Amino acid sequence: MKRQISLLTLATTALFVLSFVMISSCTKTGPEGPSGKDGEDGLNADASCVKCHDFSDDLLTKVHQFANSAHGSGANVDRSAVGCAQCHTSQGFRLMVDSGQIAAVTSPAIINCRTCHKIHETYSPADYALRGSGAVAMVMGGPAAQYNYGTSNTCANCHQGRAVTPYPVAGGDPVQITNKRYGPHYGPQANMFIGKGAYEIAGPMPYSNSPHTQAVTNGCVTCHMDGAPVGLKAGGHQMSITYNGTSKLLTGCTVSGCHTDAAVVKSMFDANRAEIAALELQLETELKAMGLLDVEGYVAVPATLTQDQLGIILNLKLVHYDHSYGAHNYRYTKALLVNSLDALAKMGV
Ligand code: HEC
Ligand code: HEC
Ligand code: HEC
Ligand code: HEC
Ligand code: HEC
Repeated sequence: MKRQISLLTLATTALFVLSFVMISSCTKTGPEGPSGKDGEDGLNADASCVKCHDFSDDLLTKVHQFANSAHGSGANVDRSAVGCAQCHTSQGFRLMVDSGQIAAVTSPAIINCRTCHKIHETYSPADYALRGSGAVAMVMGGPAAQYNYGTSNTCANCHQGRAVTPYPVAGGDPVQITNKRYGPHYGPQANMFIGKGAYEIAGPMPYSNSPHTQAVTNGCVTCHMDGAPVGLKAGGHQMSITYNGTSKLLTGCTVSGCHTDAAVVKSMFDANRAEIAALELQLETELKAMGLLDVEGYVAVPATLTQDQLGIILNLKLVHYDHSYGAHNYRYTKALLVNSLDALAKMGV
């Protein structure tokens, strides 16, 4: 960094000397011309760059946390075709949130500091502002589905279900499904958190949302980016909650004041997780037994499904790919599974 700045200084000095030589040589051959306009002030390294690139370890710490994260792994950056690049590449995301374009990206960059922050747009500390920071109108879940939870709006742009076609409509005709990967895609966490986008089939449990939907005003960030990260393993810009296999960083849970003891949260968390995992497995097993899913859990295609069958498959996939086993929205997750199982039982196998 210092080298970069001193190179800049060197270049400016060279330019200055050069113009001096030129001006002095001009005066020998003719009358002095009118003076030029004042140049723009150069960037003062002390005032801008150094606000972020200083001698502290703050920036480097975040760089390292991030490098050790799933985002930083770049595992799926090759998903750079149109329809994938907006969530899997840095350029694709910026195109979507900055100019509303969904496009393929050549030479894709992995998700990095510039993806979420406006790094080097003005070379001032204001560049830590977040991209895609407004309320997110969700792709899945109808016009009422909106995610608006502070700094985590950035996350919801990517961590939401994709367009599901055909979307199940209660009372509609049976439909042919030919794509075995039918469902909302891998990361519908924002849908689950707000309880929008599932097929709310009637059953014994009412559909309601976890108090998290009201109390956790910064959404994902409150729980996943806890300000006291566990080294490079969890929290902060690493963003994991689970580390060392089974340990959990749950201090994010106690900041709202609703939970006061992380150990109590852990026991609730374990109990809910076991319950939701069991219900999910039961639903999956029954759908397989009915021949609607194949042994690997894909939709057994080609299939002609009733709207309710399709909706139940959608519910299972949504719960599965949310990957939180109820942590994001326990009541809603449980209602989806319980009501789907109840409806399946009534269909008879
Ligand atoms: C808002 C904070 C911020 C400011 C202000 C800032 N930078 Fe950066 N800079 C960053 C971040 C974040 C990175 C990316 C770090 C990484 O990914 O490893 C970076 C990376 C760099 C790099 C490495 C190459 C690259 O582009 O990734 C250089 C060189 C650099 N900055 C120079 C500058 C200079 C010169 C200035 C002032 C004119 C400046 N920066 C101002 C935050 C800032
Ligand atoms: C709306 C944003 C979005 C779009 C569009 C999108 N993805 Fe993803 N994808 C994600 C997210 C978020 C994850 C990670 C979810 C998680 O780990 O919970 C992911 C994960 C994946 C994974 C990894 C699955 C795993 O378990 O390791 C693959 C493969 C993938 N996506 C392929 C694609 C392809 C191919 C396309 C285009 C046809 C695509 N994605 C479009 C957001 C998106
Ligand atoms: C996936 C999106 C994402 C990426 C990528 C990301 N950040 Fe952040 N960053 C955030 C969010 C969200 C916050 C706000 C957290 C909060 O509200 O507490 C944040 C906060 C920050 C802050 C505090 C800003 C302030 O105004 O106080 C710094 C500094 C920062 N990030 C640096 C980085 C650096 C350096 C990188 C690259 C290594 C990076 N971020 C990559 C999402 C991201
Ligand atoms: C540009 C799209 C994008 C944004 C923005 C984004 N993510 Fe991700 N996220 C992904 C993808 C894609 C993956 C899967 C890893 C991969 O393939 O790169 C992922 C993975 C993750 C994982 C790890 C999942 C696992 O299976 O280990 C967590 C946790 C996560 N993201 C949380 C967040 C949070 C919190 C935010 C907001 C601060 C955020 N993400 C913002 C696209 C995004
Ligand atoms: C109330 C706290 C809380 C909120 C809010 C929250 N999460 Fe989570 N999330 C969790 C917990 C707890 C888990 C389960 C722990 C685990 O599996 O590591 C989890 C699991 C995940 C996973 C799967 C992690 C893995 O390793 O498989 C992803 C991805 C994720 N959350 C992303 C998000 C995104 C994106 C948001 C915002 C839309 C969000 N979360 C909001 C607490 C939260």
